[in-house]
This record gives sequence, structure tokens and C-alpha cells, in this order.
Amino acid sequence: MDQLIVGKGSSLHGRIRVPGDKSISHRTLLLGALAEGDSVVRGFLPSGDCMATLRCIEALGIQVEEHGDNTLTIQGRGLRGLCRPDQPLDCVRSGTTMRLLAGILAGQSFASTLTGDEQLLRRPMGRIAEPLRKMGAQITTRDGRGPLKIRPAKLHGGEHTLPVASAQVKSAILLAGLYAEGPTVVQQPGPARDHTELMLAAMGADVRSSGLTVTLTPRSRELSPLDLSVPGDVSSASFPLVAALLVASSEVMVEWVGVNPTRTGLLDVVSQMGGEIAIDSESRQGGEPMANVTAAASDLKGIEIGGSTVVRMIDEFPLLAVAATQAKGATVVRDAAELRVKETDRIACIASELSKMGAHIEPERDGFTIVGPTPLEGALVDSHGDHRIAMALAVAGLVASGETIIDGARCIPDSFPGFVERMQEIGARMEWVWDRGDCHGPSREREL
Ligand code: S3P
Repeated sequence: MDQLIVGKGSSLHGRIRVPGDKSISHRTLLLGALAEGDSVVRGFLPSGDCMATLRCIEALGIQVEEHGDNTLTIQGRGLRGLCRPDQPLDCVRSGTTMRLLAGILAGQSFASTLTGDEQLLRRPMGRIAEPLRKMGAQITTRDGRGPLKIRPAKLHGGEHTLPVASAQVKSAILLAGLYAEGPTVVQQPGPARDHTELMLAAMGADVRSSGLTVTLTPRSRELSPLDLSVPGDVSSASFPLVAALLVASSEVMVEWVGVNPTRTGLLDVVSQMGGEIAIDSESRQGGEPMANVTAAASDLKGIEIGGSTVVRMIDEFPLLAVAATQAKGATVVRDAAELRVKETDRIACIASELSKMGAHIEPERDGFTIVGPTPLEGALVDSHGDHRIAMALAVAGLVASGETIIDGARCIPDSFPGFVERMQEIGARMEWVWDRGDCHGPSREREL
């Protein structure tokens, strides 16, 4: 049993920081491994998903020194310095690990296999295998899913028009492009997160973006090492911020959050819904903008979301659904069929779990409609093994009457280790209940 128990909250207050950005942390490991020399990364996110990437690059012969305080030195061995792994590389539950590594491994002179747990092996991998094959990669899937078996191949550049806006697919192609002959061009249907391009450019790669087109031209010279501080993850910051919007009389600041515009769709949307959100003290680190973000309790109204906003908040829809239950009128989400192939089918899962709490939510093929405001009731709900569903339900629990019990909450550290502690710090009533002897975390008595 691993449950999170949440009680209805009194107001939330404080200034907190959230752990480092997950997407950037993955990329520091993967690109740091390919750089010539030592990269230093501060504020690395030691989440389940990023640790899967770290173990994979170690299995590829890269040494990573952990200095405490989430600072790492990654001893890059250059573009051709990876070693053949002895065993299949275990990406655990991390889609980013499997897809980005596939791009890198497609151009190596050794064979490799990428595998993961049952949840990851259900996710679509044809979306990377097909463009990589078009570049000459020798890659086999199991009916379009992992494990992926990759054999040595000579790659060539070319043009790719992506059917869906996906940073993972774009990144896999660009990373393979580092090993290709001739330029690789990716046309995106929407503005997927651009951390790979920013980081590659900072390392001296010839990568240029113009509108939704990205072009990478391989160079004969090596990538320079990184020296960067990872900003707080805006996807993680969204949980305390939305909680502050929903719980009466609250005001919470999250400091030092990454506010790359390809990631801030939720902040824009909740502002349009009437949420009081302030972004200040903006600065820049290695091409990535960061800022302090403050949210205060607000009356929200329903909104329609579709088009290019969707990709800019693709991970935030379970949380947006919770906010929508408290907003006046209808919130309609469209063009978001991608939600069905995330860690879980997030449309089906959030609809089934919020319904248990009394929400009026109608799932659709490519989104959902929620009519609010609805007084939520505490209930026994299920994370379905999905960290973002678990944390969204925890925020719902703060506005629900009585007690909300979230089953299977142990997945939360896949992206946000310390979530419960950060939420407690701002005054949220939440407590883990784990069976004594469970090796995944401390066992604590229930204290609500
Ligand atoms: C990610 C891209 C997104 C996002 C995921 C992380 C990344 O996936 O949902 O959590 O780091 O590139 P898609 O690119 O598949 O949309």
C-alpha cells in the first residue's frame, strides 16, 4: 500500500523552490555524455525518470560524479566516445529517456537495446523509429512499441514533417542528426519545447530555428561541455501555484522557475481564466529564461483551449482539469489527443478519478469538457501509476470536503521528489501512508 492522504486546506502561504526541470535535466546528461570534457550541472533533478537516464549513460561508459546538493559532473567522452553496453538499457518508466537515447544510439558503431517497465513498453515508439529509419537507422520495435533494438548504421540528413508536435520526437531526430551526413530539418506542427536546440546551440552545434522549422547541420568539431544551473521545473511549480489559486485566501511564490515560453501554456491559460499570476525578476541561464512566479486565490471562469497552446502545457492537463472543476462555466479542451499516450491515458484517468470526487467531466476523443464550479468531495482515488495524475488529485484534495486518499502515489517522485514536503511547507495538509518495510521511502504514521 502506498497512499497519500490529503485534507481540505486552510489558506496556503510562502515562498518555495521546486526541484530542477525534468526535460533540461535529461538533456544535460545525454548531451553532457556527448561533449568533449567535463560538464558541470547544478540543480539537477534526481527524479525517477532522470535517474533512469543517468544509469543508462553510465551503462554506456560515461562517469557521472554526484557532489551532493544536486550538482553533477558528467565526464563527456565526445560524440564517438560511448561504449557498447553489456545489457539492454533500462529506461524504467521514462519516455524521454527511451526516445532521446534512441536518436543518439541510432548513429553509433555498436548495437544496443532500449527497454523499460510495463508502462513504458505500452507507449508508442513508431513515432521515433519511423523518422530514424528514414535517416538510415536500423531499428526494430515490437509492433511499434519497445523494446527497441538498434544496430549500427550510417545515417543521412533530410527533411521531416512531424505529424504531432512532440519535443521527444524532434529531439530524437536532431540527436541522430549529429551523426548524419548533411543537414537534418524538422518541421513541427506546433511549438514543442526547445530545450534540445537551446542546449545544442550553447554547446557550439550548428542548430537554427526559424518559426516552427529547426535545422541542424553536423560539424566536424566536438560539442563543448556544459556549465549550467537547471531552473526549477515549471510543470512541478504548477501544482503549488494552482493550489494557491484554488484555496481561499492563499498566496504562494515559487522562486527561480524556468519560464521558457514553450512551457508556460498553463500560466497563460489560468491567467486568462481570471487567475492572479505574477511573473517577475526574470533572468537567463544558458539560454533558458527563469523567474519568480506568484499565484493568489482567485475566482476562475471556464475557457476553451486548443491549437498551439496545447503543446505548451501538454503535461499540465490533469491539473488544469482540477482548476476547471472550480471555475465558473464550461472549460473545453480540444486538439489534445496526445494526452491518451502519456504515462497513462490522461483523458480517461483524470475523468474517472475526478468523477469519483463529484466533478462534471465529459471525456472526448481529443480532450474533455468540464462544467463548474463543483464542490468536490474527498474520495478514494487512484493515480494509475502516473505521477501527474497523483499530484493533480492531491491538489483536488485540498479543495474537497473531508479526506482524499490517493492510491499508488509512490510514482510522484518520477518527476517531483519532495512534492509532499514542499506542499506541507506552504501549509497543505498531506501525509504519506506507506507500509512499514516498503523500500521505496520512509514509513510514516498518518498525522492528519
Ligand atoms: C518531454 C516532452 C513531452 C512531455 C514530456 C517531456 C521532453 O513529451 O510530455 O513529459 O522532455 O521532451 P512529447 O514530446 O512526447 O509531447
